[in-house]
Amino acid sequence: MADAGSDVKLGAEPALAEVPVADLTAEQAQRELARLALAIEAANRAYHTEDAPVVDDAGYDRLKQRNAEIEDRFPDLKRSDSPSEQVGGPVAEGFGKVTHAVRMLSLANAFDPADVVDFDASIRKYLGLASDTPLIYTAEPKIDGLSLSLRYEDGRLVTAATRGDGAVGENVTANARTIDTIPETLAGVTGVLEVRGEVYMSHADFAALNARQEAAGQKTFANPRNAAAGSLRQLDTKVTAARPLRFFAYAWGEVSEPLAQTQFEAIARLSDLGFDTNPLTRRCDGPEALMAHYDRIAADRATLGYDIDGVVYKVDKLDLQRRLGFRSTTPRWAIAHKFPAELAWTQLKGIDIQVGRTGALSPVARLEPVTVGGVVVSNATLHNEDYIAGVGGDGSPIRDGKDIRVGDWVQVYRAGDVIPKIADVDLTRRPDDAEPFSFPTVCPECGSDALREDDDAVRRCSGGLICPAQAVEQLKHFVSRQAFDIEGLGAKQVEAFYHDDQLPVREPADIFTLARRDDENVAKLKNRDGWGETSVKNLMQAIDEKRQISLNRLIFSLGIRHVGETAAMTFARHFGSWDAFRDTVRAAVDEPLTAQGGPVGTSASRFDGSPHWAQLDAIDGVGSVTIASLVETFANDAERAAIDRLVAELQVQDVAAPATGGSPVAGKTVVFTGSLEKMTRAEAKARAEGLGAKVAGSVSAKTDLLVAGPGAGSKAKKAAELGIETLDEDGWLALIGDA
Ligand code: IVH
Repeated sequence: MADAGSDVKLGAEPALAEVPVADLTAEQAQRELARLALAIEAANRAYHTEDAPVVDDAGYDRLKQRNAEIEDRFPDLKRSDSPSEQVGGPVAEGFGKVTHAVRMLSLANAFDPADVVDFDASIRKYLGLASDTPLIYTAEPKIDGLSLSLRYEDGRLVTAATRGDGAVGENVTANARTIDTIPETLAGVTGVLEVRGEVYMSHADFAALNARQEAAGQKTFANPRNAAAGSLRQLDTKVTAARPLRFFAYAWGEVSEPLAQTQFEAIARLSDLGFDTNPLTRRCDGPEALMAHYDRIAADRATLGYDIDGVVYKVDKLDLQRRLGFRSTTPRWAIAHKFPAELAWTQLKGIDIQVGRTGALSPVARLEPVTVGGVVVSNATLHNEDYIAGVGGDGSPIRDGKDIRVGDWVQVYRAGDVIPKIADVDLTRRPDDAEPFSFPTVCPECGSDALREDDDAVRRCSGGLICPAQAVEQLKHFVSRQAFDIEGLGAKQVEAFYHDDQLPVREPADIFTLARRDDENVAKLKNRDGWGETSVKNLMQAIDEKRQISLNRLIFSLGIRHVGETAAMTFARHFGSWDAFRDTVRAAVDEPLTAQGGPVGTSASRFDGSPHWAQLDAIDGVGSVTIASLVETFANDAERAAIDRLVAELQVQDVAAPATGGSPVAGKTVVFTGSLEKMTRAEAKARAEGLGAKVAGSVSAKTDLLVAGPGAGSKAKKAAELGIETLDEDGWLALIGDA
């Protein structure tokens, strides 16, 4: 009977959310206001920052209305963070975008002493320095937080932006101003000074924050880095202000005046200006000294009071940094020497197969959850079937040839942000009945054959766009941040639309016909759960905004295997317009048909040798594997038609040849010969390419300019015969303005 009694009691008190405002007691009203504040905040956050509305517009309005009514009846109970005080309804508009004046790059990694020695050697080679010429570096901890760029104009902080994709970040100025260690003004600074560094949270502050979150029944953070990122990216500045964030300055972007002549002095200058700089920053005279400092920092790691994940080495002299310049996403003059990953043992519960965008069958380890480096890990990548079998990429054994079986005890590690991996298997704990894993030979999603090509460890579904998994992953890629980046249409939404019967999105073009199709439907999207008038309007507007798209983004968005952002940009710059790009690729597809007058085979190599193929293959910076994949995509009628349907919905913006600042050598073909005295060949080539020139190895009728140093032989002679302009090294430097 006691049980029945408690049932009756539970049933007797209706959920607080249902109690009419007029019937609430003061105590209930207080609890209700707390619940509503949380619910409204969660709805705001979901709508504005997570691209995933949790309530529809009407539901949102009901929450706000109820909150207002309770506050009317109990004015004394109104909370200091009352949602009714937030002007304009939901908090602001998400974050604005900031285009970085100088791109925010990442760092290449070194994992062992050999990598550090190579780093020094490659810099010496690039600069043409003998191994006994002194070369100074700085070494400093790599802070595990998130990078922030602070723009000061005439000494006043005007913008703070996150890294974002490196080119465009989020405007978090109001939040950055709440961080104590970020100065609002810089004495004696005129013009522009962009200071860059890392926002982080100390271990002590992190523990206290999580304790507070837990006591308030709110979500706790997995590690200080997540806590720092979550705190900086708060739409409500008051929340950021209450979070104990700190900032270390270690770099800079645009500067009107050089900060100093060396990295070390530049950091000292930032410290004088009022920034925190890392006290473990040292000058070192070569790889040995760098590694000795690495060992010291590694030994101090546990007692620093904040997370670091390695040591960053930078060439000290800024004029050398300038000469060394950048690769596509990383500077040549710096490297991050990472600490070894943390390890943990756990049991493998199962192996799932995921089918990716390009049909790759990826095995994923389902693990008994285990904490590795402060984060709970329950999945790890198993790469491919060879990896599971204990065979490496080059056919030689890995893990001493031990295979991985369901039921095994496996050692898991995480390195940086990457997906957890499996380092080892403990055969002594293998269950007697554990069976070798048999990798599927048909696609688990669509049943098509899953095939392996020669030289490829990856098994791929042959279903193409008929495979729902590939189609959904293609769509997710299409809407991703580096691709179409449509606000309110993230991975979750495209997945839902893909399976939607009334308003299906099965290919990218369908996104752009959503509004038209919704108009024609009787049942409207706005009347569905999770949607409302405003959210539908916003979505359709966000889609329309992306009808104008740059050529490089479009090419990247197509999700063609091997065509990443860099290759897409290279194609865009080479062809300039969609029509020029498409026509050449199509011509490469069509040529052998007419040339051979018969049906074509299935391998991309059949295109090899045609004039348009050769034209594609000659593009600097993309290899023939990429070209084969591109041509193969356009050779597939269904894919080609889907691309045409998409492009018909868009206005594709042309891309200009590289911005070369009016360079006199842009578009020219240059050949270097003889010995150069003020720079190495590698440096000369990189500089010329940076100015938009193409650097060739031999002189031909296509050569525009020969740069000949002492000892130039046959090339100079040939250039003279062909009447090609020839300059010496100084003439070249004067031409490009480096003299
Ligand atoms: S220098 C041009 N120094 O590491 C490169 N980066 O993996 C400028 N980081 O995006 C970066 N501590 O967020 C530099 N002492 C340090 C750093 C550091 C942490 C971060 C930074 C960067 C990432 C690259």
